[in-house]
Amino acid sequence: MTSILYNDAKFTVLTSILILIFSIYFLPKYKNNVCTSFSDYYGDRDSNSNCYYNPDAKLNVSEIIRRNGYTEEEHKVITKDGYILTLFRIPNRRGSIKTPGPPVFLQHGAVVNCASFINRGSKSLGFILADEGYDVWLGNFRGTIYSKRHTQLKPTDRRFWHFDTYELGVYDTSANVDYIYNITAQKIIYIGHSLGSTTGYIYGVTSPDVAKEKLKIIISLAPTLYVKNWKSITRHIFSLWSFATPLIAALTNEEIYLRGKPGNPLRETLCTGYPFQMYYCQFFEMVTFGFDYEQNDPETLPITLLQNADAVSHRTLTHCTQLVLKGTLEYFDHGAETNLKVYGSTHPPHYNLSQLKVPTYLIRAPNDLIITKEDVEYVHKNLPNETNPYDIYTVKYESFNHEDFLTARDIVPLLYNHLLEFINKL
Ligand SMILES: *[C@@H]1O[C@H](CO)[C@@H](O)[C@H](O)[C@H]1NC(C)=O
Ligand SMILES: *[C@@H]1O[C@H](CO)[C@@H](O)[C@H](O)[C@H]1NC(C)=O
Ligand SMILES: *[C@@H]1O[C@H](CO)[C@@H](O)[C@H](O)[C@H]1NC(C)=O
Ligand SMILES: *[C@@H]1O[C@H](CO)[C@@H](O)[C@H](O)[C@H]1NC(C)=O
Repeated sequence: MTSILYNDAKFTVLTSILILIFSIYFLPKYKNNVCTSFSDYYGDRDSNSNCYYNPDAKLNVSEIIRRNGYTEEEHKVITKDGYILTLFRIPNRRGSIKTPGPPVFLQHGAVVNCASFINRGSKSLGFILADEGYDVWLGNFRGTIYSKRHTQLKPTDRRFWHFDTYELGVYDTSANVDYIYNITAQKIIYIGHSLGSTTGYIYGVTSPDVAKEKLKIIISLAPTLYVKNWKSITRHIFSLWSFATPLIAALTNEEIYLRGKPGNPLRETLCTGYPFQMYYCQFFEMVTFGFDYEQNDPETLPITLLQNADAVSHRTLTHCTQLVLKGTLEYFDHGAETNLKVYGSTHPPHYNLSQLKVPTYLIRAPNDLIITKEDVEYVHKNLPNETNPYDIYTVKYESFNHEDFLTARDIVPLLYNHLLEFINKL
């Protein structure tokens, strides 16, 4: 066993080094970093009129919002347990300063931050909503670069990273929702992607009355609640997770970057430049989320590959593996002995969907290997009838996957147009 592992590790290290050398050697020395088609990436990009330099690749969220012509505000929100979160706000249409419209709160998922909602120019959900007249608020979970502060703890302290989905839903989400509601005095449209939808429900079932008062609806893009039927082959490594845990604890301060840090130069070298690099860098994600190379967007892929990356806590990942292996929606499992101390029972309690008082709208992707049709139907069936006025909406494109909600080339006709039409009627 050890020797197999050792050989595997050796092989992985060797191939990575080879790929790295190869990539550096072939690294294009052009200034233009994006092109309108994949074939334009080959040849002299700087003299090709289909290619141009998109500075968003290297900018932070406030700079991207302003560069794209929108007003930007930055708000600091302190959670009950002391984390200092950044909420970005786009209050107006591009180039306008009218009174803000109805508030929409966008919550990103795991491994990314709110840049994922604004880094695709006119195909970005954040900008599309702003242009439609909504008052757009962008949340950032604790631990991501914009929310990596605490009133007492430093992020180098491993106690900073002692949180999971519960804290993201109960503390971060409620702090953000309270803050937005306080400023706007209007019911908020909550839109969450992936883990960002999970936390909306965790908030909704743990504070049902406040959530009902402050939220108009929870719209979930890939509702990640029950993941019992997780089809991705990554489920096979989850049963090994408990063996990796001590190693992760020893090697890190419980802060994990599955895709590297945002703008990571190594990822830039390995994964952008030529289309073949962009493709191999997505292989593992496609295995996890569903294959859909067809919806790769030549004009924004070099940007999203760099920017859609950020930290998660070890414990959040552990909780996610527990949910997949158990097929339930329950609190973090500390093991029988600690559970008894923390929860008063040897098993962790379940999140009870019957408690939810906020209406919901579930949107799923046909080729999402982690959030399957069965699991979304299970959620839909278990929501109380009065919060469940709509049928599940399935994106009408067979290979649309978990990631496509953010990055698909044709995202506007495939999903955002429908989403706008839906929320305009609310
Ligand atoms: C973004 O970058 C600018 C320029 O470096 C800096 O002044 C600003 O504080 C940054 N904003 C955030 C939210 O990191
Ligand atoms: C709401 O706003 C008021 C006045 O600006 C402030 O005093 C109060 O602390 C705010 N509450 C929350 C929960 O942010
Ligand atoms: C879930 O909530 C409903 C409605 O309040 C309640 O009737 C039910 O007993 C709860 N289920 C569990 C397992 O706590
Ligand atoms: C919800 O509606 C379904 C179908 O209309 C019905 O079968 C079910 O009994 C209802 N559930 C509750 C709790 O009212």
